[in-house]
Amino acid sequence: MDYIITTEQLTKKYKNFTSVNNVSLHIRKGSIYGFLGPNGAGKSTTMKMLLGLTAPTKGSFTIDGRHFPEDRLAILKEIGSFIESPSFYANLTGRENLDIIRRILGLPKDSVDDALELVGLEEFGNRLAKKYSLGMKQRLGLAGALLGRPPILILDEPTNGLDPSGIHEIRNLIKSLPSLCSCTIMISSHMLSEIELMADDIGILNHGRLLFEGSLDDLRRSAKQDGMSADNKLIGDQMLIENQLEDVFLAMVDQDNAARKQRAQL
Ligand SMILES: Nc1ncnc2c1ncn2[C@@H]1O[C@H](COP(=O)(O)OP(=O)(O)OP(=O)(O)O)[C@@H](O)[C@H]1O
Ligand SMILES: [Mg+2]
Repeated sequence: MDYIITTEQLTKKYKNFTSVNNVSLHIRKGSIYGFLGPNGAGKSTTMKMLLGLTAPTKGSFTIDGRHFPEDRLAILKEIGSFIESPSFYANLTGRENLDIIRRILGLPKDSVDDALELVGLEEFGNRLAKKYSLGMKQRLGLAGALLGRPPILILDEPTNGLDPSGIHEIRNLIKSLPSLCSCTIMISSHMLSEIELMADDIGILNHGRLLFEGSLDDLRRSAKQDGMSADNKLIGDQMLIENQLEDVFLAMVDQDNAARKQRAQL
């Protein structure tokens, strides 16, 4: 299998609290990888380690054949990122904000218009960032990640705070990117129902541990084996699972939490 990102036993400890615990991820080239987990699961921390923003306590990772920590700078050049809510200079236009990032990255001038067009902000490039709606700010954040069309995008909850139509728009944009830009996308969320509309593969994190990794079909299969999805309906020979993946995800997290509690009591 052609993986563009692999992590090996990636671990982050803050004093005696383990935020990310021996996580080994496998992200296929050209795929959209949904990184799921409830609040505090360790998604942002994992992504920050991949971006060199915080150092792993243990473990390592390889991105596009380059190994951390030796190739840290080369890795960074390959990744466009959107971590938590990106901030901008409010008194500069969207275009001016992107131009600052472009200059830091040493990219050609036309990469700004290219990124604005990709996210559908070309008409609003000359508006001040403080006059952008929330959805437009998220788009500007994505445009920043897309400058120079990097081969890898790491997007931390890019639909956070958006209304349903904003979510729909950003989701469609993200879905279109692997074929538009030949890139691989790692995207985090705490909602499986959101991720299942976009992702090819998913990883589920809870309390820093990876509970599941595989395709959505693998998750359905493993849920069926575990008997977690009781309401499956058989129509012909096709198994339909209605609105249940979210339940599967929540059940997995609940089971893990119960097991943790039990271990803690022993
Ligand atoms: N600098 C830090 N110092 C101490 N603890 C931290 C630090 N950063 C994160 N943590 C803890 O690590 C855990 C994981 O946090 P993280 O932000 O990675 O979660 P998350 O999965 O991104 O959650 P959310 O969905 O809320 O964004 C949390 O318990 C958090 O409080
Ligand atoms: Mg987070």
